[in-house]
Order: sequence, then C-alpha cells, then structure tokens
Amino acid sequence: MPEKTEKNLAYAFAAESKACARNATFAKKADMEDYQQIARLFRAVSEAESVHARRYLMLMRGKIGSTEENLETAFQNEIKANVEEYPKLIKDAAAEGNKAVLKAFSQARDVESLHADLYKKAINDMVAERETDYHVCQVCGYISEDNAPDKCPICGAVKEKFKQVV
Ligand SMILES: [Fe+2]
Ligand SMILES: [Fe+2]
Repeated sequence: MPEKTEKNLAYAFAAESKACARNATFAKKADMEDYQQIARLFRAVSEAESVHARRYLMLMRGKIGSTEENLETAFQNEIKANVEEYPKLIKDAAAEGNKAVLKAFSQARDVESLHADLYKKAINDMVAERETDYHVCQVCGYISEDNAPDKCPICGAVKEKFKQVV
C-alpha cells in the first residue's frame, strides 16, 4: 500500500475513533440534561463514525487477522497498557497531583490486566467453547462474567451501573 495512503488511513481511523467516543459522551450529557432527541442524534453520529473507523481499520494492512490472531493481539495490547502505558500516565498524574485523573488511570490499569485474563481464558476456551455473558462497569470498564456483581470490585459502583453485552 502506498505510504501516504497507509498514513492517512491510520490518521482517519484514530480521528473517527475519537469522534465516536466524543459523540457518545455528548449523548450521555444530553441524556442527563433531558434532551432526548439531541441525545439520539449524538448516538446516531457516534455510530456512524464507528462505521467509518471500522471500515478504515479493515483497509489497513495487517491490522485484522484471524480471530485466533486477534485474540492474541488483544491480549498483548492489554498487557502493554497494564505494564507499560498506564504506569507512565499514573506517575505523571501523581506528580502533578490530579486525584480524579490518578484514580481513573489507576483503575483502568487494574482493569486492563483483568481484560488480559479474559482474553487468555477465551483463547483456552476456544477449544472448550464455554459460553458466558459479560457485564461491563460503566464507571471503570471492569468486566464481570455471567452476572453483574452487587458492587464493582475495582471502583465500587453499584450493580445498576453494569451494562450487559450481548
Ligand atoms: Fe482493556
Ligand atoms: Fe467499576
């Protein structure tokens, strides 16, 4: 693939991924302010930007492999976030004294290692084909298998804060 095209795809993928998350957050805020129709619009655009992001990622060379390969990539990414990336961010947040950011980064670091465990388990379970439901904490991103816990073990959020992924 030509160099500029590859670079531009990577740029567009990152920009659309951000737009997807940003619009989803705008939607949540609109929900909180009781603008239901505007929230719906933000969610629709967020979904559309994720269509763009996925389309570009599929076109990028070597980014999407077989599911077995993708599980391994996803596992490695979680480990990297847990042992390399978040520790640096946590160090800076601690040095600059921002408690809310320090808490968010610290909880995310812990959650990433649990995400890695889930991938590891899934790699092993591909043979066993064990079925499970996943429930995601909407505060810290912790994932619970089978049932939502009464209280999030990472951030303490209540059961109602968990969203089941189907
Ligand atoms: Fe993760
Ligand atoms: Fe949580």
